[in-house]
Amino acid sequence: MDKKIVFSAVQPSGIPTIGNYVGSIKNWVNMQDEYNCIYSLADLHTLTVKQIPAELRQRSYELLALYLAAGLDPNKSVIFAQSHVPAHAELTWILNTVTYPGELQRMTQFKDKSSRHAENVNMGLLDYPVLMAADILLYGTDFVPVGADQKQHLEITRDLAIRFNNRYSQTFTVPEPLIPKVGAKVMSLQDPEKKMSKSDENPNAYISMNDSTDDIIRKFKRAVTDSEACIKFDEENKKGISNLLTIYSLFSGMTIPEAEKQFEGVGYGEFKLAVGEQVANVLQPITAEKNRILSDKAYLESVLKDGAEKANYLAHKMMRKVYKKVGLIQL
Ligand code: TYM
Repeated sequence: MDKKIVFSAVQPSGIPTIGNYVGSIKNWVNMQDEYNCIYSLADLHTLTVKQIPAELRQRSYELLALYLAAGLDPNKSVIFAQSHVPAHAELTWILNTVTYPGELQRMTQFKDKSSRHAENVNMGLLDYPVLMAADILLYGTDFVPVGADQKQHLEITRDLAIRFNNRYSQTFTVPEPLIPKVGAKVMSLQDPEKKMSKSDENPNAYISMNDSTDDIIRKFKRAVTDSEACIKFDEENKKGISNLLTIYSLFSGMTIPEAEKQFEGVGYGEFKLAVGEQVANVLQPITAEKNRILSDKAYLESVLKDGAEKANYLAHKMMRKVYKKVGLIQL
């Protein structure tokens, strides 16, 4: 039987955090044998907020190096940059013709980003979910491993696929999100009510995949918790501690009850230090490997070239089908 298809992407919009890592990249690595995996740098999406061009380019190389250091294997998976496959923009146009402005205006991320970037509410920001739908639908994707914040975008992707199929006959596979049970929403270390985000203004709120061991330990030491002295998982009343237990569990391989047991009777100071050390121990070899790969631009570019070739082949086939279905002349 043919393997099912997996597609996912991260935006090179900042240095990825441990939230991006456990919510997505880490899970992608384990899927490479069982599925046909396609992983992209969502660089076109990144342009929906203002970027400094030279920094965007550098961060794209960094994100690719991180993919590889984390264990994505270009011999098993298709790894490429979205902007190297013109079909992503082409399919966005076609899907735009079956998308209603109202459904885009209602997207939580659009509302959130347009209030944070009020000086730059552009058409791209509104159309962001349609480009994302194009990314996914181009490859006949069955599963999309993402964090919880992308759930709404997956819903609109499914709606657009179904709407197109109903209008023009069966064309797109209707994809399903794969959202991890633990780690789907890592919270900010400074405000555990808020998601950890690579674009947070306060660098103490997140652990980036570039942070040194000292930075990591310092940031965990400062993490906001509560005034009790009890290390118990309770997402209602103890958001900060629950977030730290979740992070510890993800980075140690222990379950949350096992972690609770290990820290029974331990003070918050000691607990935060242990979480910091555990995260730093896991990240240190990944960061070192990422930096090693990053120094080899020729290799990185060869990975992108190879990935673009494979992705263009697949995407072009789908575009021919789509253009035919909608009634465009094929030469
Ligand atoms: P982005 O770059 O914001 O985030 C990349 C991935 O990280 C997940 N994530 C988190 N997971 C757990 N805890 C957090 N605090 C956290 N923050 C982020 C996100 O859910 C995501 O899986 N639009 C996408 C990129 C994209 C895409 C796609 C994804 C473009 N095209 C097609 C899937 C399929 C985004 O902005 O992700």
